[in-house]
Parts: sequence; C-alpha cells; structure tokens
Amino acid sequence: MSTTTTTTETKAVPKAGEYMTFGTQYETKDLIDFDSSKVYGDWRDDFHKYGCTLIKGVLSKERAQYYVNKQLAWLQSFNLGFDPNDQSTWKAEHLPVSFKGGMMFSYAVTHEKMAWEARTEPAIVDIFEKLWETPELIASFDGLNIFPPQKDLAKSWTPWPHCDQNPERKGMQAVQGLINFAPNGENDGGLVLMKGSAKLFNEFFAREREQGDHEDAPPPEIKFMDLFLFNKRDVKWFEDRGCELVKINMEPGDFVLWDSRTMHYAKFPEGDQIRHAQYICMTPRKFATEEALEAKKFCFENYYGTTHWPHCNVRPSTEKPMRNGEVCPAYRTEPIEKPVVTDKVLQLAGIKEY
Ligand SMILES: [Fe+2]
Repeated sequence: MSTTTTTTETKAVPKAGEYMTFGTQYETKDLIDFDSSKVYGDWRDDFHKYGCTLIKGVLSKERAQYYVNKQLAWLQSFNLGFDPNDQSTWKAEHLPVSFKGGMMFSYAVTHEKMAWEARTEPAIVDIFEKLWETPELIASFDGLNIFPPQKDLAKSWTPWPHCDQNPERKGMQAVQGLINFAPNGENDGGLVLMKGSAKLFNEFFAREREQGDHEDAPPPEIKFMDLFLFNKRDVKWFEDRGCELVKINMEPGDFVLWDSRTMHYAKFPEGDQIRHAQYICMTPRKFATEEALEAKKFCFENYYGTTHWPHCNVRPSTEKPMRNGEVCPAYRTEPIEKPVVTDKVLQLAGIKEY
C-alpha cells in the first residue's frame, strides 16, 4: 500500500473548488462547429473520426532528450537519493510525492522553466492552433509524468479507466495532449486510450451512470468536477460497441491528442525504462470567462497547477504532498528554475491578450 497521499490546504490560499462556480462549465454542445465533411489530409482526419490521434515526430529526438535530462535533474534536485542509473533507488522514498507513481503535480513543477518551454514549443502550439483553427489559445497548467518503474508498486497498482469531462458537458470542449520524451513501447508505462469512446459519450451518459468505486478516487471534498471513473462493465459497454483499448506506443518527440470525453488511463511500467512525458492542453481564449482568466492569473502568479482544462474548472492545486502522514520535508512552493516569462507564456497563461 502506498504511503503517499495528498491533503487539501485550508488556510491563506483559496479552498479547492473556490473557482469552480463560474462560467460555461455545462455547455452542452461542441464549442466550435466543425464541418464534418471536411477532409484535412493530416492527423485531424483521424482525430475527428476517432476522438484521438498520434502525431509522430513533433519534437526532434535531441529536443526530447533535453526534456528527459531536465526531468531527471528535477527528480535529483530533491536530494532524496534517486539515481537514474541505480534501479534500487527507484522507490517512493527516493522520489517526490506523485500520483500513481509518476504523475507530478506538486512542488510547483507545473511552472518549472522546462514545463513552460514544452508548452511554448512552436510545433506543439501549432497542433492546437490547427485543431481549434485560431492562434488565440490559452493553456492549462497541467502536470508531468516521470515514472521510474517501481517494483514495490506493482502489486497495488490498478488501472483506473476514466474520462476528464463531466457527463453534464456534451460535445467537444477540451482536447488533452501528451508530449512523450523517452522510448515508450508495449511493456513501458504509458497511455491507454479507448479509441472511439468520445463519440459514444452522449449515448453512454443518456441514462444515469454510477461512478466506479476506485481506491484512487479523490476524496469527496476535492471536487474535480471533470472526472468520471468507469467500472469494468462500462469498459465492456464501449468494447461491445466497437471501441478498442489501445496502448499508445511512442518514440521520443511523439505527441498524442485525445478528446476529453475519451476513456483513458496509464499502463503500469513493466520494463526498466523511465517514463518521461508532459500533459499539455490548450483551448481558445474566447471559451474563458473573465473570472476564469482571473483564476488562471492567480494560479500563474502563485505557481499553482490546474486541471487539464484551460478555460474553465480552473482549480488551483493547493494540496500539499504528504509523505507518511506528514507534509513532505522536500515540499517547495516555487520552481527551482523559474520560467522565462515571454509574451507567449503570458498569452498562454491567459494574462496577456492577443
Ligand atoms: Fe485523465
């Protein structure tokens, strides 16, 4: 059983959920009207057909390796004994506290210089510009996945198929992305998508559905709003209708996009390859209310992360990383390498207008 959990900060900073009441959170249609008969001749055709797509070679291998090195240096900056060359140190006690062994949201990591460098990679911004057909985008302050395979987690690890869109929201409203930095094959920890499930979202949720009772479900006081946990028979429901669970194998520099209505989870790593990835999500600025933009500014200025959603559900990640029942001694509230605050960073943060 894992000894690491998170808890909710209750003083001096906004309570979880404080920014959740505004805006367009329950729009019930696509936020952009796409011409379904249009043929793009690129990854958009697959994306609009299946709700997900893999885009090869978005970053060069060299650029991907740069991010691997930065992520390893970040892990080592905690001085907890982690050594990338010594697998005996690939244990929770030598690593910063994460979710499910590798998802890093705490310690201001979502505003590290490397995180903003990845978000502002021109080839990544270009994907979202093409997708949404506008250059006026804002980004979420989402986390990283740095996952050294940890044998002591293998027994307690369970998949948690979920989607990151509230069933009350209908239509395509957010599209999540993941840039992959290290080789990621069949046995490595990585993204599993239920291909085609986004298109069946309305049909599935046409009747009342009960969430799966998963051990990793967030406590009720943390209202994620855009999270639905599926149970085993739901997985079968989608498979019976022609959807397929696919582990997305990726080379360094590949990028995967999925409609937030898509069922997904991460596969447990079985090899000896450390997973290195970052979640990146952008939507048009025009989707956001003034309150949402204000909330983003607050998060940016205080180095808080957010949910995957760039334009709404801007929930400051105020939870402190907990280790053995206490706040992790290595807890920090600022990045070790602060981002270079360019106009592009401010625009994507929603602070500077286009
Ligand atoms: Fe997710």
